[in-house]
Amino acid sequence: MSETRQTLLEVDGLKKYFPIRKGLLRRVVGHVRAVDDVNFTIRRGETLSLVGESGCGKTTTSRCILRALTPTAGDVNFLTENQRVVNIATVPRRELRPLRRQMQMIFQDPYSSLNPRMTLLDIIGEPLLVNGVGSVSDRRDRVEELLKLVGLPPEFMSRYPHAFSGGQRQRIGIARALALKPALIVADEPVSALDVSVQAQIINLMLELQEEMGLSYLFVAHDLSVVKHVSDRVAVMYVGKIVEIAATEDLFQQPLHPYTEALLSAVPKPDPRLRSQRIILEGEVADPASPPSGCYFHPRCKYVIDRCRTESPALEEVQPERFVSCHRARELTLSGVKE
Ligand SMILES: Nc1ncnc2c1ncn2[C@@H]1O[C@H](COP(=O)(O)OP(=O)(O)OP(=O)(O)O)[C@@H](O)[C@H]1O
Ligand code: SF4
Ligand SMILES: [Mg+2]
Repeated sequence: MSETRQTLLEVDGLKKYFPIRKGLLRRVVGHVRAVDDVNFTIRRGETLSLVGESGCGKTTTSRCILRALTPTAGDVNFLTENQRVVNIATVPRRELRPLRRQMQMIFQDPYSSLNPRMTLLDIIGEPLLVNGVGSVSDRRDRVEELLKLVGLPPEFMSRYPHAFSGGQRQRIGIARALALKPALIVADEPVSALDVSVQAQIINLMLELQEEMGLSYLFVAHDLSVVKHVSDRVAVMYVGKIVEIAATEDLFQQPLHPYTEALLSAVPKPDPRLRSQRIILEGEVADPASPPSGCYFHPRCKYVIDRCRTESPALEEVQPERFVSCHRARELTLSGVKE
């Protein structure tokens, strides 16, 4: 990772609150604060992973970045191919389409995201068709090229998605996402539904494509073991907020937030002597409709002090390029994962 790389995406103060409605009149009685003041950047060619337990707001953040959901507040500044900075959060809808070409999504379940009645030629060629790219034969050539790029034989073009395995379907999803040569790919748990052996193949493919095409990734995952080899930096999310961001190696070697430490202790370790050190995270993730007072992690934190129950910690840069939101970040020495 290089500090001098251009910033491609800057997420600033992003919030997404879903109204909770009750009764006959569907009155708004509260809000689910699914994303609550999230800030991060992604540089060109970089992979930022977004990690956290189920329900912490990863998918909502991803969907806001692509404006599949309109944020409640905040900016999503994107550097376009014309070197213009556009705020995706507020840009008028009609201006979104040309931007959407430059940011694409890969989904967790490649089966439900592929239309079963379309051939691979139609599925992968659809974004080209919709954006009026090339003639029929140009599109065919491009689909052939894309299939080769993701390691599938071009003859598969006339087949339907049901003929393929999970890993192959994810390759198809990736080919489709790459059709319009995007700069940013948002991958929401792209390998979670796949067998472990296939996960590595898809991850390697994503890394090769990144190298070849200079792609940036926002890589969403619920556990840390998957992200270690893909990410330059990791952002850890808890109940709608980012609690720690750091370079991958720093975060794994020495986490600064107790939640990161707990997630890391769950990463499978080859050495059986280290396995007993696993921290069992007790209790459930807090409800984003009625989060606890003070630090949202306090009911589950083994380092909790009185101040944590009343005062909410801010995300601060406690070391160069290391951001953490914990009152005790400067005094605690937490355990990471040793190689
Ligand atoms: N359309 C919606 N209306 C109301 N609440 C929602 C909506 N979408 C998501 N939520 C809530 O927002 C919170 C964050 O959900 P989100 O799907 O972003 O989490 P996640 O981190 O992606 O979880 P997972 O790991 O299970 O995919 C959850 O409490 C969820 O129930
Ligand atoms: S602020 Fe307190 S409760 Fe929150 S993570 Fe830090 S030590 Fe734990
Ligand atoms: Mg999700």
